[in-house]
Amino acid sequence: MTLQYIHNELTLHGHRLSDIARTSGTPLFVYDETMIRNQCRRFHRALQESELNYTISYASKAFSSVQLFNLMAEENTGLDVVSEGELFTALQSTVAENRIHFHGNNKTDREIKYAVESGVDYFVIDSLDEIDRLDALADRTVKAVLRINPGVEAHTHEFIQTGQENSKFGLSVKKGLALEGIKKIQQAAHIDFMGVHFHIGSQIFESTGTIATIDLVIDWLADNDIAISVLNIGGGFSIKYTDDDVSYPIEDGIKAITDALKKACERNHYSVPEISLEPGRSIVGEAGITLYEVGTVKDIPDVNYYVSIDGGMSDHIRTALYDAQYELKLVNREEPHDKLMTVAGKLCESGDIIRRDIKLPASIRTGDYLAVLSTGAYHYSMSSNYNQMLKPAVVFVTAAGAREVIRRQSLEQLIQNDVVH
Ligand code: LLP
Repeated sequence: MTLQYIHNELTLHGHRLSDIARTSGTPLFVYDETMIRNQCRRFHRALQESELNYTISYASKAFSSVQLFNLMAEENTGLDVVSEGELFTALQSTVAENRIHFHGNNKTDREIKYAVESGVDYFVIDSLDEIDRLDALADRTVKAVLRINPGVEAHTHEFIQTGQENSKFGLSVKKGLALEGIKKIQQAAHIDFMGVHFHIGSQIFESTGTIATIDLVIDWLADNDIAISVLNIGGGFSIKYTDDDVSYPIEDGIKAITDALKKACERNHYSVPEISLEPGRSIVGEAGITLYEVGTVKDIPDVNYYVSIDGGMSDHIRTALYDAQYELKLVNREEPHDKLMTVAGKLCESGDIIRRDIKLPASIRTGDYLAVLSTGAYHYSMSSNYNQMLKPAVVFVTAAGAREVIRRQSLEQLIQNDVVH
């Protein structure tokens, strides 16, 4: 996202963020719509270059919204959903039902029926008993890939080939469960076996782990004489939160991955399958920021300097949950970052921190606006009503202006399910 100080005010596409904050209120999620579209296009172009057949499904858990899904439809990008709630939201959008992939390690019978009835036709099966349940509940033939556990765990810089055997996701290749699953699907009356799926981790900076997994999977399939038409490699492409991170190099990375797939198939005299990707964070993460208004400033001499904002762990849980790090910017003027401080939320918990020990302008005071960068993924979608905090509004910004895509929750909505009388 290109944020720029113009006339001493932080702007996006030429629009002053403080104006947007005043119009829509804070806390507020602001997305650069153009960047979201551009991220989709970069994945499409990189895959087109490979000349492989491919599909891209946006992992909707990163940020689920009808207007965002409409953008995905316009960008020829499908959706991956993992619950009836995500599916319901997807069905309100213009994404075609047959572009929705249904995921999840414990789909309930109700969810399976709902998905089949809604015209979803691509299931990512995650267990042996799901095969029986899907086969029994489907009154037509549905397509499925089997999520396997390849025994490879990717971290940000390296990967471990024997990691992750102990996982609730997928069926183990090494323990023979994956093969058993494939044979079972092939015998199912209402399930068309399409191929296999793996997802080896999230916020992965480079492609080594994915390539090693592709090699392992294609060798294993060829050795066992299993033909597939689809290889789904999941998501997990990294974004930049701070200078310690790298945005996944989409063009080079996808080229390396697709080249590796072609080579692995050639080595095994195996026909090259369609490749499917499920990026979430890399589509929306860097395209979103959170705007807060500063309230209390508390100086504890020789201990800490707390700046508190009008949201917190109800809309920003990742610092408390993962010790995640963020960059922040003062919105309504540009000044040197010269004072060490801690930016805290307003919720009743000491762990309700946005960022510890960050240098920001010493002049920050009540009424200023702060922007927290790279909050487009897993922030709104992981928000809660803890302390009866209201879920923030969300706006999309382009050069043409800002439009609200999710309204702020109201106090009435907060108790709409309470039995009051
Ligand atoms: N596909 C599958 C099967 C997944 O499990 C996930 C993420 C994705 C795709 C998308 O991954 P992405 O491209 O967004 O990394 N709450 C955590 C992230 C959990 C990711 C879960 N699965 C966070 O805030 O970092």
